[in-house]
Amino acid sequence: MPENASSLRVLPWSARPGARAWRCEPAPSRVRDFHAALPDYAPTPLVELPLFATELGVGRVFVKDESCRLGLPAFKALGASWAVHRVLAERAASGDDAGTVTLVTATDGNHGRAVARMARLFGQRAHVFVPRGVHPQAVSAIAAERAKVTQVAGPYDEAVRLAAGASAAADSVLVQDTAWPGYERIPGWIVEGYSTLCAEIDEQLTAAGVAAGPGLVAVPVGVGSLAQAVITHYRSRPSGRGPALLSVEPEAAACVLESLSLGAPVSITTGATTMAGLNCGTPSSIAWPYLRDGLDAAIAVADPDAARAAARLAELGVSSGPCGAAALAGLRAALTGAGADERRTTLGLGPSSVVVLLSTEGTAANPHSRTGSGTGC
Ligand SMILES: Cc1ncc(COP(=O)(O)O)c(C=O)c1O
Repeated sequence: MPENASSLRVLPWSARPGARAWRCEPAPSRVRDFHAALPDYAPTPLVELPLFATELGVGRVFVKDESCRLGLPAFKALGASWAVHRVLAERAASGDDAGTVTLVTATDGNHGRAVARMARLFGQRAHVFVPRGVHPQAVSAIAAERAKVTQVAGPYDEAVRLAAGASAAADSVLVQDTAWPGYERIPGWIVEGYSTLCAEIDEQLTAAGVAAGPGLVAVPVGVGSLAQAVITHYRSRPSGRGPALLSVEPEAAACVLESLSLGAPVSITTGATTMAGLNCGTPSSIAWPYLRDGLDAAIAVADPDAARAAARLAELGVSSGPCGAAALAGLRAALTGAGADERRTTLGLGPSSVVVLLSTEGTAANPHSRTGSGTGC
């Protein structure tokens, strides 16, 4: 696109003044202890990238690198492990655990693989529904966890509907990372599971001399469950000015941005995107009130922006797939081009601000990635 055409383009952006003053209840603290006791647990790295701080005109930039989390190349196992643990504990408590259970889910890739891994780890079965657009290697990775895989010709929302239907079979439980009215408890556990990631960031920033916490956190968003966890973490603190929270979606699947612009949750028709894990058409019902009230801003980025961001991260030694790199792509888009000064002010960013980018997957998670070796976790 010629320079003048790109600068005339209206940025997909929505902002909510006052989000930093909004407060909610915290996540339960025992989640971290549960994760810490898992065989493959270790905090993922929080990598400081001073070059990005210079480029973005802020004080310090850190990237939370989720390219190897509990033995898988994306953050999703945090939610799946806690939710599966809660489901199985509940079955045991009700004396309903005589045989194995089938954990059913739909996925854009990472969540399904995590559920399949947890099913295997806990001696259960998994049945995973995969929509169109998920790379064949990602599908194979789910099958390699010994899950039954059903490929769906339609988009993610349709895969979720089919998974929900299949979970009505005997000895089956839907472990879905999105909620809707009537199905909210298990997605709530998944959100709780993600809280470990935020707890680690607190400790890592303190160790890096940033005891006051970050000034901005950028989060890649599909249905908004991870963002709900991040909002819960930073907006449940009793005092102090929390960070600005920025959600980043693909332009082809910006259901949260669209919902925020309309002031109500809506389903959209999604297109194709390399950011496969973010290719969702409907915000989670339990995430919506948090997204509406607790996000400072939402932005959408195009596939080439995410690819460029992934390439930059790779140059600096961080393995990041297109979804993971979306956080950097979104922040870069917000802080450049026409209206950038106003957006910087909205986000409360100054020359000494500390920024945290959540890089939610490594290149190995998403074979759509053109950068990196695809190896790693
Ligand atoms: C790598 C990656 N990043 C971010 C997300 C977004 O999470 P959520 O759907 O909770 O918004 C996903 C979801 O699958 C993902 O796989």
